[in-house]
Amino acid sequence: MAPFPFRDPGSMTTPRKLHIKSYGCQMNVYDAQRMVDTLAGEGFVETASADDADLVILNTCHIREKASEKVYSELGRLRVAKEEAARQGRDMKIAVAGCVAQAEGEEIVHRAPTVDIVVGPQSYHHLPQLLKRAKESGRALETEFPVEDKFGFLPQPKPDAIRARGISAFVTVQEGCDKFCTFCVVPYTRGAEVSRPVAKIIDDVTQLTENGVREITLIGQNVNAYHGDGPDGRAWPLGKLLQRLAQIPGVARLRYSTSHPRDVDDSLIAAHRDLPELMPFVHLPVQSGADRILAAMNRKHTADDYRRVIDRFRAARQDIAFSSDFIVGFPGETEEEFSATLALVTQIGYAAAYSFKYSPRPGTPAAEMRETVSAAEMDERLGRLQELIDSQQSAFNRAAIGTTVDVLFERAARNPGQIVGRTAYLQPAHVMASPDIIGKILPVRIDSLERYSLIGELAASSTPSLVSQTTIGA
Ligand code: SAH
Ligand code: SF4
Ligand code: F3S
Repeated sequence: MAPFPFRDPGSMTTPRKLHIKSYGCQMNVYDAQRMVDTLAGEGFVETASADDADLVILNTCHIREKASEKVYSELGRLRVAKEEAARQGRDMKIAVAGCVAQAEGEEIVHRAPTVDIVVGPQSYHHLPQLLKRAKESGRALETEFPVEDKFGFLPQPKPDAIRARGISAFVTVQEGCDKFCTFCVVPYTRGAEVSRPVAKIIDDVTQLTENGVREITLIGQNVNAYHGDGPDGRAWPLGKLLQRLAQIPGVARLRYSTSHPRDVDDSLIAAHRDLPELMPFVHLPVQSGADRILAAMNRKHTADDYRRVIDRFRAARQDIAFSSDFIVGFPGETEEEFSATLALVTQIGYAAAYSFKYSPRPGTPAAEMRETVSAAEMDERLGRLQELIDSQQSAFNRAAIGTTVDVLFERAARNPGQIVGRTAYLQPAHVMASPDIIGKILPVRIDSLERYSLIGELAASSTPSLVSQTTIGA
């Protein structure tokens, strides 16, 4: 195999066009950026439309049936675009990346002859070689879990690319999952948990902040299982990593996602207590409020364990707020067990939450479970849960009206003259102001709420600062 970075000598003269469409989680968004960076070295530039692209990558998600089926309908459309390109004498290559590629690589090749390249999430650094192989022999497929650490092979983003990404950026610190919840495909599509070394994360964050990024979200499928090698030769937990990153000049806000209730250790709680840069908003999925269902899901925690974790966060930081994920209609879920989920939601009080109907995934233990919940019951339960969550979210947003909150401004809004940013709780906040407030954290007096957006005015006596700490009561 050619040593990385491989360069096709003919490719550097005329830029080729690359179009990536991403589905699924933040990890896929991050990976898409890394694919762009990798292929920039091959002379590819991004294009907004698939039709004029030389390479189209579908960066897919396998988490629920609906998500994976999208791939095949999209491939149908791309087949037409590819045929049209061929009529114009252009060669369009189509690649399927992401978790469907990993889970169904062979099947994609059979079902969709239009696909030239199938590449799993662990092999993106091989994209240049795969393109070459596809050119030479028609097709290229790579979905093996590699022996080497893919993180070591991916290029650092270039400063220009970072600038284009704006004020807020993701940094992968961990990938994969060893939890094997019985409903979930992630341990099969992303493999075992791997943590990046602390030094590499410090390098990434330093480079990002030197190029104008102010907010860093550390991402991982199970981010608080982080245990990367520290400079002292020990494995560092996430809390210690956050403490270190907060010292990097220019880091105004830190976040992390997605965490698991079982991996909340004292270092993470201490980070929330001690670091003003660490935002008081935690996505902590619980899935269900019923212990029998949690056990059948192999979550390895009870509803009370989860309540205690929430209490520890709240004791450390009084203004902390939470979001969560829920699954309704897991095999055998009774009405009483669903009510336990509603009771848990009522008791915790979320700022936001996502809820899903259970979707059986091939190869997972839950897909073999015989008892099922009818589609009608699932719909009904999802409706009730979403109504409750919506009412909590609206109440949380309404509570901001009349208060002054810190907003990190990110970009010009669609309405002329308006600038939009985010509060500590990721609520979008709009003000009329000059674009030079972009990149600053400023106090904003919130006047009203439009759907999910807060509308306000810059607080009169505001002195710009990178980190200030006015927050709304949660
Ligand atoms: N790593 C995270 C998130 C995993 S996927 C965690 O551990 O929580 C995001 C969400 O999708 C999950 O939290 C779960 O609520 C949902 N999900 C995963 N598999 C699902 C399935 N088979 N059916 C329905 N929802 C599912
Ligand atoms: Fe999936 Fe569970 Fe791992 Fe989350 S913790 S990625 S839900 S197996
Ligand atoms: Fe989907 Fe894979 Fe993310 S299945 S949610 S893209 S890890």
